Amino acid sequence: MNLKKMVGYKAAEFIEDGMTVGLGTGSTAFYMVEALGRRVEEEGLKVTGVTTSHRTTKQASELGIPLKDIDEVDSIDLTIDGADEISEDFQGIKGGGAAHLFEKMVADLSDEVIWIVDESKMVKRLGAFPLPVEVVKFGHGQVKNLFERKGLNPQIRLDQNGQKVETDSGNYVIDLKLEIIEKPHELAAFLDSVTGVVEHGLFLDCVSKVIVGKTGGPEVIEVMR
Ligand code: 5RP
Repeated sequence: MNLKKMVGYKAAEFIEDGMTVGLGTGSTAFYMVEALGRRVEEEGLKVTGVTTSHRTTKQASELGIPLKDIDEVDSIDLTIDGADEISEDFQGIKGGGAAHLFEKMVADLSDEVIWIVDESKMVKRLGAFPLPVEVVKFGHGQVKNLFERKGLNPQIRLDQNGQKVETDSGNYVIDLKLEIIEKPHELAAFLDSVTGVVEHGLFLDCVSKVIVGKTGGPEVIEVMR
């Protein structure tokens, strides 16, 4: 079985009747949303979804999953999302799909966060995956210059037509090609301090469970904090 499908389907089993559920973005979260749609249809499961991108909103609404805007809920019981890298101490990089701003806002409001990944995403230390940073359009070149001066090896994300990728909020993405992130908390604090940065893809100390897709089956890891 496709490992992304395996973990997506497995994660949907953790959703309980009555829950408000954060629905992640990406090719792995896609399968979780697909499985949730099936549970809603076949079991009559009652849930409220809060989506993290226009893509997921479209998929979930086509599947008949009831949705609310993030501002219409008080809290979220459980969010299930993909990740681009997870280190051995369960810190993460997200934003490969440029959805990390909404994903982080939904995760921050959640009592529990589950990440679903195939085993290739599990790494010793973060950084081989370029770190996405969402920046406002105005002065994004100056933000890139600052990152260059800091040795962060920035690259503005382009689509297949060579156009700058725009997020769902109409911002640009700068990817930092770092190879190894020695001190994720320090880097996160620096990025948080830069005017013009909307949000970065370091998701620190936020995951409660990781489901890893392996050829032998899904492994469910409880993260102790
Ligand atoms: C989108 C994300 C995704 O969760 C992340 O990129 C993983 O995607 P995929 O499941 O397609 O590998 O952070 O912004």
